[in-house]
Amino acid sequence: MATQFSTGAGEDRFVGRAVSRVDGPAKVTGLAKYAGEFSAENLAHGYVVSSSIARGRITSIDTAAAEAVPGVLKVITHKNRPSVAGQSKAYQDMVAPPGSPFRALYDETIVFSGQPVALVVAEDFDTARHAASLVTVAYEAEPPRTDIDALSGDAYKPPMEREGIKPPPEPRGDAEAAFGKAPIRVEGQYRLADEHHNPMEPHASTVVVEDDGTYTVYDKIQGVANTQLYLTNVFGLKPEQVRCLNPYLGGGFGSGLRPQYQLFLAMLAAQDLKRSVRVTLTRDQMWSFTFRSQAVQTISLGADENGGLQAIRHDAVQGTSTYEDYQEVVVNWSGVLYKCDNVKLSYKLVKLDTPTPGDMRAPGAVSGVFAIETAMDEMACATGLDPIELRLKNYTEADQTEGKPFGSKALKSCFSEGAERFGWSKRSPEPRSMRDGKELVGWGMASGIWESMMMKSSAQATLTADGRLEIGNSTGDIGTGTYTILTQIAADTLGLPIEHITTKLGDTELAQAPVAGGSWTAASSGTAVMKACRTIAEQVFKLARGLPDSPLANVDFERAVFTNGRIEVAGDPSRSVGIVDVLKTTGTDKLEATETASPDKDFKKQFEAYTHSAIFAEVKVDEELGRIRVTRIVSAIAAGKILNTKTARSQILGGVVMGIGSALHEESMLDHRLGRFMNHNLGEYHVPAHADIYDIDVIFVDEEDMANPLGVKGLGEIGIVGTAAAIGNAVYHATGKRIRNLPITVDKIL
Ligand code: MOS
Repeated sequence: MATQFSTGAGEDRFVGRAVSRVDGPAKVTGLAKYAGEFSAENLAHGYVVSSSIARGRITSIDTAAAEAVPGVLKVITHKNRPSVAGQSKAYQDMVAPPGSPFRALYDETIVFSGQPVALVVAEDFDTARHAASLVTVAYEAEPPRTDIDALSGDAYKPPMEREGIKPPPEPRGDAEAAFGKAPIRVEGQYRLADEHHNPMEPHASTVVVEDDGTYTVYDKIQGVANTQLYLTNVFGLKPEQVRCLNPYLGGGFGSGLRPQYQLFLAMLAAQDLKRSVRVTLTRDQMWSFTFRSQAVQTISLGADENGGLQAIRHDAVQGTSTYEDYQEVVVNWSGVLYKCDNVKLSYKLVKLDTPTPGDMRAPGAVSGVFAIETAMDEMACATGLDPIELRLKNYTEADQTEGKPFGSKALKSCFSEGAERFGWSKRSPEPRSMRDGKELVGWGMASGIWESMMMKSSAQATLTADGRLEIGNSTGDIGTGTYTILTQIAADTLGLPIEHITTKLGDTELAQAPVAGGSWTAASSGTAVMKACRTIAEQVFKLARGLPDSPLANVDFERAVFTNGRIEVAGDPSRSVGIVDVLKTTGTDKLEATETASPDKDFKKQFEAYTHSAIFAEVKVDEELGRIRVTRIVSAIAAGKILNTKTARSQILGGVVMGIGSALHEESMLDHRLGRFMNHNLGEYHVPAHADIYDIDVIFVDEEDMANPLGVKGLGEIGIVGTAAAIGNAVYHATGKRIRNLPITVDKIL
């Protein structure tokens, strides 16, 4: 379908422009409400008591003192909890990995530190929190197994297959033999620490019991359809009995893809007490579920004297919980990024006594691309080639893994435009050769890659007689700007001003859409909104053409131009009619449409779809203090059409900041004697603060893609991928120290 979204085609066009967030005013004035802020008459408050051991069983639990506190309504434990679904299968949400999901308060078994062992429900939050401190639990503890390095061999197993996750491909060629023969070789072990998402908004669920016995549930989730599915399965409810909403999210990063235990506990208590209940988790309790598992990886690269890659081996091991095989795509990128005929990749899991890890912004790619892009920098040094030259030498226009060309790949433009903006040509290649006063200066670069995906998604649109349009679906805007881009798409499809459009998201009463994740929301919900608005356009057009003496008489729909609230004949703007006039004259109150968009099967048969990037980093290192400052980043992105240059840039800025965190700061530290993450607060788990961030420059290179009618590829994740490698490579260039173990903290520099 020919796109009508020609960027900057005129003042009446919004797609492609830097439109400010339509939800911005609500967010900055406090009108936007989050899951833990919705209230209800007679609302009770739950506070979670967390396990202090990581593995073993509860031998006794004493709730008497807590129950005696005035204002406490009930203390729910595994001993007195109401009956719920017994089968673990019922707890499998839309994106659950294979295994048996965690069931809170199910029995006396403890499988991770911080596991909820009781919920104290009281008239107010402070009473619940105080009473929770009075619950005493006795355990029979077993030694926790949380040390990935203490386990090896048989403990490493390929995961059970997870839908939507490609296992490593079959080897191509003979990587071992080719590596053995290669004149230039690079080998190393690369690591990335455990990281926690830490969105600003903590996890919370408010379950409101309505007068008719149905429930309205406000949940921190990246797609309310998942909340509803989970609640109906676990509590044996019908979808019409549970309306789920989350109009706003204070960040997700993947932590809100799956329903978490506070949702289960809030519904459990609401059913038990027949009262509305809210359960909010504290910041430290955010370390008791989902996180990015550390990855232990080895890479071997072999090349000829000219830098042509002869062999790639990439093996990775990640931790998962004892009860689910969470997994991600870590090593496959190494077989897609470069042209190489001998590739062998492997991926294994090791079961640990931790909560199940989960998707965290660009899951798998953050770890895997850090490793391969660091190894490529080592190869550049070994061959004496410039890092960009080495990458161009091994550039591929086709995905050798699938044997298909890329639908589009403007990575070469990322290299050239990024290098130009950064001033890369002025780099002196020798490590420790650049200085600024007492600081060593390092310039490094890396590539990034992320799969461009689309999911089946529906959307609805309603045009009313006053010329106002309401659109929406059930997906969540996790802060990415979804409200805004969907509004822009609707505005351009129907030629309406943005102010006449209301976009609604995050409500199971709206058309169904998947969780917001994987950078697929623009392609999925965007295309669905465009289709629904096209259907409305056809309906108005039909009405307009049927008017007596219609200026559109004998005109085909293809020649209709929707602009400034009017329908014009292409090439003959003197023939036109106002949309409101059409609705009024024909006595039409409203026009409605719901449409579903699905991935283009023909495209997928022929092409592979990825976003790409080139990241350039400047670091300044004070060797006496071991301090690293990332003084400049240029991130050049090839992600197809950019719907909104402002929100798109914000996504890349956020991704880069998170990449800086992963390179230099973020690390959840396990005490293996206790099996517990010890730095479970934002004082000891450092995420980049303003003082850590200097100049970040974002470039979007031209790229035309046809995977979907919008030509978009997704932007939420590509900004973080490769950023840590670029920084690590810059640190090497500055100091001569190759640090393959993230984060690069002071102790590793000194
Ligand atoms: Mo993203 S990790 O798919 O929310």
